[in-house]
Amino acid sequence: MEEKKKYSRTLVTTALPYANGPVHIGHLAGVYVPADIYVRYLRLKGEDVLMIGGSDEHGVPITIKAQKEGVTPQDIVDRYHNIIKESMAGLGISFDVYGRTTSEMHRHTASDFFKKLYDKGEFIEKMSKQFYDEEADQWLADRYITGTCPHCGSEGAYGDQCEACGTSLNATDLINPRSAITGNVPVLKETKHWYMPLDKWEPKLRKWILEDHKEWKTNVYGQCKSWLDGGLQPRAVTRDLNWGIPVPIEGAEGKVLYVWFDAPIGYISNTKELRPDDWEKYWKAPDTRIIHFIGKDNIVFHCLIFPAMLMAEGSYQLPENVPANEFLNLEGDKISTSRNWAVWLNEYLEDFPGKQDVLRYVLTANAPESKDNDFTWKDFQDRNNNELVAILGNFVNRAIVLTNKYFDGVIPEAHELTDYDRATIEEFKGVKDELGKALDTFHFRAALAEAMKLARIGNKYLADTEPWKLAKTDMARVETIMNVALQITANLAIAFEPFLPFSAEKLRKMINLECADWNKLGDIDILKAGNRVEKPVLLFEKIDDETIKVQTDRLERIKQENILKNFKPKAVAPTVTFDDFQKLDIRVGKVLECEKVKKADKLLKFAIDDGTGKPRTIVSGIAKFYNPEDLVGKEVCFIANFPPRTLKGVESQGMILSAEDADGRLVVIGPQGEVRPGVQVG
Ligand code: 2FM
Ligand code: ZN
Repeated sequence: MEEKKKYSRTLVTTALPYANGPVHIGHLAGVYVPADIYVRYLRLKGEDVLMIGGSDEHGVPITIKAQKEGVTPQDIVDRYHNIIKESMAGLGISFDVYGRTTSEMHRHTASDFFKKLYDKGEFIEKMSKQFYDEEADQWLADRYITGTCPHCGSEGAYGDQCEACGTSLNATDLINPRSAITGNVPVLKETKHWYMPLDKWEPKLRKWILEDHKEWKTNVYGQCKSWLDGGLQPRAVTRDLNWGIPVPIEGAEGKVLYVWFDAPIGYISNTKELRPDDWEKYWKAPDTRIIHFIGKDNIVFHCLIFPAMLMAEGSYQLPENVPANEFLNLEGDKISTSRNWAVWLNEYLEDFPGKQDVLRYVLTANAPESKDNDFTWKDFQDRNNNELVAILGNFVNRAIVLTNKYFDGVIPEAHELTDYDRATIEEFKGVKDELGKALDTFHFRAALAEAMKLARIGNKYLADTEPWKLAKTDMARVETIMNVALQITANLAIAFEPFLPFSAEKLRKMINLECADWNKLGDIDILKAGNRVEKPVLLFEKIDDETIKVQTDRLERIKQENILKNFKPKAVAPTVTFDDFQKLDIRVGKVLECEKVKKADKLLKFAIDDGTGKPRTIVSGIAKFYNPEDLVGKEVCFIANFPPRTLKGVESQGMILSAEDADGRLVVIGPQGEVRPGVQVG
C-alpha cells in the first residue's frame, strides 16, 4: 500500500457561487453541504482546517442579470452576495471566511497574479475575430449572442452553448447570429487577448492527474482524462467587457480578466482576508492539503486551468483532491435559475424555520456523488418522517424520557454487562472506523448511513432489552440498560455533529455534553454516572401532507408559467384560397352519446347529432383527456367530408376538432353560442 502523505493543515475551498441569484439545493448538495460535513469532521478531530468561501461577482451572468433588471452589476452583486451569505450561515455552512471578488483585496491579488505571469512571459498574445455590436458600441460576450444551433436547429442558442441539445458552441458557429442587446446582426472585428498556453502544461498535468492522482473520484478522473486525451489548447484569459478586474498592463484598456481567471484566485484572496499574517502557509507549504469542493461543470477549471495557472506562477501547492459531484435534479427536471426551477435556500429557511438539518440530511442522503440524482418533496417528507423522526429522534427521545422517568434525570451507573450489551457495544464501536473511512474518502452518503446505523443500533437495543418491563422487578438491570442507551446517545451527538449540527447541539445540551470530540466516538464512558440529563426536547417533528403540498403546488405553478412563457405559435402554413377552404366541410354537432372504445386507451366513440336525424359515429383520440360522460350534450365542431375509416373495428365518419392546452392536453373545440346541429362553419 502506498503510504499516505502526512499533512499538517487542510485548506478546503468551495466553488464561489455567481452572485446573480440565491443559492439553491443543487449548489448545496453538490458543494456546500458535503464541504461543510468534511470541515466539521476535521474540526472535530482537532485538525487545523480552513473553509474558504465567497461570491463570484464578475462575469457575464452578472451583467446579463443587471441588464435585464435595468440596474448596475454592482447592485446585483450587493444584493445577492448578502442573500447568499446570510442563507448559507442560516443553514450552518461554517465558512471561516465568506468573501467577494469585488473586494479590494481580491482585485489586487488577481491583478498581481496576472502581472506576475505576464512578466514571466507565461502568456501568448493573440489577435482574433470577435463579435461586436456597432449600435451598442460593445463587444459581445458569448452569452450576448444568440442564433440557430448548427447541431439541432433550435433557435435561441447562445454563443457558448445550445441549451436545447447541450452542445458547446463557438459564437461563430451559430447560424444567423444576433446581438442579444439590440437584436442587430453583429460584425466580426479583430481584438487582442492574452492566452494561457495550456498545451505547454499538458505533460505536467497529465502526470500529476493521470499518474499521481489515480485515487480521485472516477467522474473527476474520467473527465480530466478525456480533456487531456483530446489535447489542450491555449485559452484566452482576458475579455472585452466593462465589468471585471482591469487587465493590468498597457494597451489593454477596456479589457478585463476572464471571470474564470479571477474567480479561483478568489480562494487565495479570501484566505488572505481571513489570515493576513500566515495565509501563505495554507497555500504554499508542502505539508498543506488543498481540497476543492465543486460541481461537475467546474472540473476543467479546477483540475486543469487553475492548476496550470498555479504551475506557471510557481510558488503554490496544487490541490490534493477535487471531489466534484454530479448534478441534483428537482422533481425529475434539471434545476434552472432562469426557469426558476429550484428550491431556493433563502425561501426554504423561511418556509421551514428550525428545519435546517432536515434539508442537510435529505441532501446528503441523496447526494449526487457518482451520478445525477433527484430531489422530490415526497422523498423529503418520507426521509424526515421515517428516518429522522422514527429512528434518530425516536431513540434519543426514549433514552431521555426514560432517564427522567426512572432516575429523575440522573445518569445511572452501569453494573454488570450482559453478552448482549457487550455485542451491542462492539457493534457501535465498529461504526467509528467505517464512518471515518467514508468521510476521509468523501463518501458522504455512506458516512451518513453509518451514523444512522448507530441510531438503529440504539433503537434495537431498547426494543430488545425493554427496560420499561423490567422497571418493576430489576432496577439494577434498568440502570445498566439506560447507562448504555445514554452512552449511545452521547455517541450520536458526536457522530451527527458534521451532518446535523443544529440537532447535535440540541442533543448535547440535553445530555450536558459540553463539546463533541471525535476521539471519544465509540467510547462507552462519555457520560458520567451521577451527572444529569435535561428534560427531553424533540429533535424532529413529522412533516404533514399539507406542508408538502404547498411546495409541490408552487412547483406546479412555475411549470405552468414556464409553459406559457415558452409557447411560440407554429409558423403559419402556406396561403390557401377561399375555394380551398370551402372544400373542407366543417359543421357543428351535438354529442348524443360518448363512450370508450374497447381495448383502445386513447379512443372515444361519439354519436353526434349532425342534423340529419341519423346519429353520425365519429371516433376521436382524446380518451386520455376527458370522461366520456362529461362530453354528452356538448356542441362540437367536426369535419364532415373526410372519407370514413375504421379504428379498432369502429367506422368513424369524420373528425372532431380539438386544440392543445398549456399542459399538452387536447381540448374539444365548439361554438361559443347555441348553434343548430348540422350548420356549416365558415
Ligand atoms: O460555476 C459557477 O457558479 C462559478 N461561479 C464557480 C466559480 S468557482 C471558483 F473558481 F471560484
Ligand atoms: Zn442545439
